[in-house]
Amino acid sequence: TGYTTLDPGFVNTASTKSAITYIDGEAGILRYRGYPIEQLAEHSTFIEVSYLLIYGELPTAEQLEAFTDKIRRHTLLHEDLKRFFDGFPRNAHPMPVLSSAINALSAYYQDSLNPDDPEQVELSTIRLLAKLPTIAAYAYKKSVGQPFLYPDNSLNLVENFLRMTFGFPAEPYEVDPEISKALDMLLILHADHEQNCSTSTVRLVGSSDANLFTSISGGINALWGPLHGGANQAVLEMLEGIRERGDTVEDFVKKVKNKEDGVKLMGFGHRVYRNYDPRAAIVKKAADTILAKLGGDDELLEIAKALEEAALTDEYFIARKLYPNVDFYTGLIYRAMGFPTRMFTVLFAMGRLPGWIAHWREMHNDAALKIGRPRQIYTGYTERDYKELTTR
Ligand code: CMC
Repeated sequence: TGYTTLDPGFVNTASTKSAITYIDGEAGILRYRGYPIEQLAEHSTFIEVSYLLIYGELPTAEQLEAFTDKIRRHTLLHEDLKRFFDGFPRNAHPMPVLSSAINALSAYYQDSLNPDDPEQVELSTIRLLAKLPTIAAYAYKKSVGQPFLYPDNSLNLVENFLRMTFGFPAEPYEVDPEISKALDMLLILHADHEQNCSTSTVRLVGSSDANLFTSISGGINALWGPLHGGANQAVLEMLEGIRERGDTVEDFVKKVKNKEDGVKLMGFGHRVYRNYDPRAAIVKKAADTILAKLGGDDELLEIAKALEEAALTDEYFIARKLYPNVDFYTGLIYRAMGFPTRMFTVLFAMGRLPGWIAHWREMHNDAALKIGRPRQIYTGYTERDYKELTTR
């Protein structure tokens, strides 16, 4: 049929032009709108980075205040939407709860669905940034059978999320500034990563002119897989498995190299980075200081470090240029903060949200927007005659 360019997994296909995030995989460089991730992680805040990704520039003090204020006014969920959580089983994984509730925003907030109306897009942007942390906290509360808390808008976005997650109604909640600052930094590290699986999903869904809420819900589902954002949960389960079985690090690495039962070293490898993932370098450093302060699971941290060292000196990993990625050490920090393993990918989604929004908006602002519609190389029968049931 003339379609001869086959690129499974889009290993070498650019799907779009973009001015949001720059990655040089060979050099291990990541920059949002030109700003190095190391500088943003050290000096910026998640809300400021969200502004940068979505609007293209760092905000002035006035712009930041207006943006923060707008988000603050939208943190509440519609009371009917709160009841939506009751329908899920208590042992539900919080990721499908999150993506379903985000999709449901299209049903509850019908006045901001038109992708061609900039005011509506702006309103749905603010609603998402404000409500996703509330939804994420409720997904957690549901799983532990505790009452939901209304947002306290005297707190900032991250503090509010921590309080809604770990606080109780009518009880004062002291936000630990160490935890709040560390979580803010981790959200910055996750905020965008150009055309990864979930972002490409958001763009593809959005390319049909589907609304922003529903496109983001698609991205959350793509993120859940263990090869993508679900890797942070998978890493912790891998480390716990090694400890429980009493495997030596050498035995485990051998299992991975022999591809026994399809075992992979979770939190290792990346499609683009052929050098150390710059996010992983920041997280590794943070893990040491944060775990020392919060008192984390030292044994698991030791296993992780030993695994990293064994892999980085092993021919299998060297030849394939496999290095730790962002997910390798984050789980240990989330665990020390008090999050259960199943919440880890929800935290990734919270971080990635501004990136998804920025990409959806960049795509919609492009006059040359076309619906995403890949072709195929057909390998089936060319033509067959129908056979009646009795003759098959
Ligand atoms: N453990 C063992 N072997 C691996 C690993 C790993 N983690 N990653 C890649 N390989 C091997 C793979 O088996 C293949 O070997 P061979 O050439 O013998 O067949 C070779 O390295 C190339 O790997 P690939 O699967 O072709 O690479 P990819 O670019 O298609 O996949 C990846 C990238 C991230 C899906 C993969 O490295 C992986 O599965 N890693 C583990 C899951 C993970 O940590 N994901 C998080 C990614 S970073 C954050 C995010 O995106 O959410």
